[in-house]
Amino acid sequence: MSPADRASAKIVIRDLYKIFGPNPAAVLPLVRDGVGKTDLLEAHGHVLGLDAINMDVRAGDVHVVMGLSGSGKSTLIRHLNRLIDPTAGSIRVEDIEVTRLNGRDLRNFRRHRASMVFQRFALHPHRTVLGNVAYGLRVRGLSRAGAEEKARAWIERVGLTGFEDRYPAALSGGMQQRVGLARALATDSDIMLMDEAFSALDPLIRTDMQDMLLRLQADLKKTIVFITHDLDEALRLGDRIAILRDGRVIQEGTTPEIVMHPADAYIADFVKDINRARVLRVKAVMSAATDGARGPALSAQTTLEEALTGFHDDPSARRPVERAGEGIVGSVGLPEILRAIERPGTTGGTNGPGAGASAF
Ligand SMILES: Nc1ncnc2c1ncn2[C@@H]1O[C@H](COP(=O)(O)OP(=O)(O)OP(=O)(O)O)[C@@H](O)[C@H]1O
Ligand SMILES: [Mg+2]
Repeated sequence: MSPADRASAKIVIRDLYKIFGPNPAAVLPLVRDGVGKTDLLEAHGHVLGLDAINMDVRAGDVHVVMGLSGSGKSTLIRHLNRLIDPTAGSIRVEDIEVTRLNGRDLRNFRRHRASMVFQRFALHPHRTVLGNVAYGLRVRGLSRAGAEEKARAWIERVGLTGFEDRYPAALSGGMQQRVGLARALATDSDIMLMDEAFSALDPLIRTDMQDMLLRLQADLKKTIVFITHDLDEALRLGDRIAILRDGRVIQEGTTPEIVMHPADAYIADFVKDINRARVLRVKAVMSAATDGARGPALSAQTTLEEALTGFHDDPSARRPVERAGEGIVGSVGLPEILRAIERPGTTGGTNGPGAGASAF
C-alpha cells in the first residue's frame, strides 16, 4: 500500500462520548470539564462508557483496541455500526455520518459496509455451515444458487471444505469461528468489526486463527477494528493499537511506538515483559539509506528475531530491506536490531499489576 493510501482514514471518530444512566445529557458538561469515571459514578450516579474518543482508522489497517475489562472496548466498537447511540460526538465512515443513519440506511450500512464477528460466534444453530454463511447473502437479495456458490468459496478460504453440511454444534470452537469469519467475509463489506473474536478459543487454536486472519488480510486489505484484552494478540495483529482505560484512549500508535515509547508507567509495565524480538519488525528499525547494503534482502515485515539469522555469517554487514511491491526501501544492520531488542533499563512502572504481558 502506498503512503498516500495508508494515510487515508476510513473511519474518523471525533469527540465521542457515551454516558450510561438516567440523564446522560445533564452530566455531559461535567465529563467535558474533566470529571472522571469514578467521580461520575460515585457523585453523579452515571457510568462513563466513552470519554472524548478521537480516533482515525486507516483504510486497510488492522486497528486494535485494547484495554482491561470495563474500559469501554465493546461500547466503542458497537458505536461503529450503531448498535449503541452516542451521548455526543461524530463517527464518519468515508462520507457517511454513522450517528445520523436511520431505518433503511442503517440496515444497508450494516449489511454492506460493516460486518461483525462476535466472541461467542453467534451462529444460527439450526442452519448448516453453508446455511449460516449463505444466510447473510440471501438477506442481501442473492438467489439461493448465487448465495451458496459464494458461500462455498468463502468456506474454502477459511479451510472448512467438507464441513458444509454440518451444524454448528458438531464443530469445535475454532471451526465455529471460521464459520463466523466466512460469514462476515462473504458480505464483501470493506469494514470488519471483531469484538474479542478469538478470546473464547484455546491458545493454539487462537494462534491459528490469528495466522489465518493475517493471511486473509494480506490479500483482502479490509479495514478491521479488532478488540482484544490480550497484549500479545494486539501486537501481533495490529497495524495500530489504541489502549483504553476508563473510557479514554491513553495511547494510540504502532506496535513499535507502543513497545519502544510507552506513554505512561502503566503501559510500560505491561510491555516490559514481551518478547521484543518477536513483535518488532525490520520496518521499525531500518534506515532509509541503502549505501553499502549487501547480501540478500530482508523483508520489511520480518521480525527482528528472524532477521538476526541473516547476520550469522557476516555480523558487520548492512542488509538491504525490501517491501512488497516497492523494492528496496532501506537497510538494516545488527547494531540497531540489538538496540531495539534490548529492554530499557527502567520503565518507571515498578509496582504494576505484574500479571504478565498477555493479561492486559
Ligand atoms: N448498557 C449499559 N448500562 C450501563 N453501563 C454499561 C452498559 N454497557 C456498558 N456499561 C459500562 O460501560 C463500561 C464499558 O463497558 P464495555 O462493555 O464497553 O467494556 P469492555 O472493555 O468491552 O469490557 P470487557 O473486556 O469485559 O468486554 C463499563 O463500566 C460497563 O459497566
Ligand atoms: Mg467487551
